[in-house]
Amino acid sequence: MKVHLTRRYHFAASHRLHLTDCSDDENRAIYGKCNNPHGHGHNYSVEVTVSGPVDAATGMVCNLADLDGFSNKEIIERFDHTNLSMMPLFEGKVPTTERLCVEIYDIYNKGFKHAHLEKVRIEETAKNSFEYTG
Ligand code: NI
Repeated sequence: MKVHLTRRYHFAASHRLHLTDCSDDENRAIYGKCNNPHGHGHNYSVEVTVSGPVDAATGMVCNLADLDGFSNKEIIERFDHTNLSMMPLFEGKVPTTERLCVEIYDIYNKGFKHAHLEKVRIEETAKNSFEYTG
């Protein structure tokens, strides 16, 4: 018996979508307003889904304290109120939310050992969301 557990977290961060090898006109054509030189911010909503058997004693897939502890330390503290474009993690890469989703998946995949990672989903705006399943 396998059950999925999804938990949602929030952080705020800014970024600028800009390719250094392209001209200003090309960047505007590719990224539109997201290429604004001063950057812009998002209130990101991150949903992480883990799965596993229901523990016979606790009745749980995983202890939420473990998931919250990991998420706060490794995701929220790392990304909240940052400028993603300035982070070494995205050096030489445009910090789109597609890439943020993959990076956050990799952080859980490497570090969270209390349940099986299924998926990371990020809502960037009310209209956009991204999912990565590895
Ligand atoms: Ni944006």
